Amino acid sequence: MTKRIALVTGGMGGIGEAISIRLHDVGHAVVVTYSPSNTGADDWLAKMEATGRQFRAYPVDVADYASCQRCAAQIKAEIGPIDILVNNAGITRDSSFKKLEKEAWDAVLSTNLDSVFNMTKQWYEDMTTRGWGRIVNISSVIGCKGGFGQTNYAAAKAGMHGFTKSLALEVARKGVTVNTVSPGFIATRMVTAVPDEIMQSKILPEIPVGRLGQPEEVAALVAYLCSQDAAFVTGANISINGGQHL
Ligand code: CAA
Repeated sequence: MTKRIALVTGGMGGIGEAISIRLHDVGHAVVVTYSPSNTGADDWLAKMEATGRQFRAYPVDVADYASCQRCAAQIKAEIGPIDILVNNAGITRDSSFKKLEKEAWDAVLSTNLDSVFNMTKQWYEDMTTRGWGRIVNISSVIGCKGGFGQTNYAAAKAGMHGFTKSLALEVARKGVTVNTVSPGFIATRMVTAVPDEIMQSKILPEIPVGRLGQPEEVAALVAYLCSQDAAFVTGANISINGGQHL
């Protein structure tokens, strides 16, 4: 396999961490970005180093275009252009629509959706110029079916689908694929933060496979989409949700 340079936003936690590890373990050089408010970045790098894995890590506020520009300029100067971009960074600020504050709407839309524009804009032209690239946007089952208390998150995740299909059309002839992966409920801190009563009474009963997904299961799918084998898969939204939404 050709060794590529991959960048994973939010690459130190949850699904992002599993993707970083998987892309590393299949032989790519992996750059992870993390939120400037994350004080555990050095500890994470040390933890990975202890398992024999080396990553380059950069702080960036993916919701902020100027921060993404600065981060990309630094990565290009220190490492070079990237081949694989995984737009994974995301947050939830769940609230019934009645109680949803404008600030929580803006935070979720900018972190989950503006971020896809902000980061993709920095890299896609290098990919088209060089004739090879992979862009994978991590959406959610919530973007397909909606979620109680998640108008903000669902809107952002659904928006990623339209972005993905449109950009896929624009870059298809240049060797660049753009796809969306829509995980269901995966065993990460984001999901285990859901009140237990709601998890037991509302969410788990709706998953035909009968359990939460594992981050590694999502990472394996992302690694496939980033591979040469997936050259004919573009503009797709691939669900990985235990049958929750077919
Ligand atoms: N489906 C149906 N009804 C639900 C529900 C659900 N998923 N969640 C809550 N309700 C119901 C409650 O049972 C309750 O009903 P009653 O009034 O009859 O008792 C009513 O809605 C109000 O619920 P709360 O008392 O919890 O109201 P709240 O205002 O305190 O909180 C909430 C509302 C923030 C939405 C809270 O219910 C909650 O956190 N729900 C879980 C949201 C969720 O599933 N988030 C997923 C996060 S993980 C993720 O998003 C990752 C991914 O990509 C899949």
